[in-house]
Amino acid sequence: MIVVREFQDCDAAGAAEVYYESFKTYLKERMGPKRSAEYWQNSMKRFTTEEYDNISFVALDGDRVVGCISIAAALVRRLGTLTRIGVLPEYAGKGIGKMLFEEADRFWRERKMRKVATCVSSINTAAIKFYERCGFHCEGVLKDHFFPGVDEHQLALFY
Ligand SMILES: CC(C)(COP(=O)(O)OP(=O)(O)OC[C@H]1O[C@@H](n2cnc3c(N)ncnc32)[C@H](O)[C@@H]1OP(=O)(O)O)[C@@H](O)C(=O)NCCC(=O)NCCS
Repeated sequence: MIVVREFQDCDAAGAAEVYYESFKTYLKERMGPKRSAEYWQNSMKRFTTEEYDNISFVALDGDRVVGCISIAAALVRRLGTLTRIGVLPEYAGKGIGKMLFEEADRFWRERKMRKVATCVSSINTAAIKFYERCGFHCEGVLKDHFFPGVDEHQLALFY
């Protein structure tokens, strides 16, 4: 059974694996070196101020981290951000990305977000379909953004 809960420090090594293996599926030779567990422990730690709330959730199969989502809520602007999401390739297509999104969706709704933004590479056809299924629409295209020759689709979800 897959369980989704808030990220804890003990998930950091698993998260490193998830984000490396999942992003490699579409970045291929563009993929940089694998980041350490310590890096992810710092970047996925809950961080809250009066104006911002940053949180990550993990999907667990037993004690194995098989998916992660990192999100933020700008509380005054009521603007959410989906920073990144990844599911281990061997677990893709089983509804785990959707489970992670639903946890994020609950978090944004509880904080009364008006809009959620994210972006996705034009070469990442699986994620484009995934985001469409979650209700995102394309608001614009950023040309040659993170990599030369690869456009980014700026996506938005309105509540
Ligand atoms: C994008 C990603 C998180 C989706 O996770 P997932 O667990 O495979 O997705 P799910 O099984 O929950 O699918 C949810 C919906 O998206 C659709 N979808 C997911 N992958 C798809 C694909 N490759 N092709 C077509 N549709 C797809 C599903 O059909 C499903 O639709 P439904 O609600 O109508 O059934 C996963 O493919 C991934 O980790 N990709 C690499 C990392 C990445 O691209 N992250 C986002 C970059 S910004």
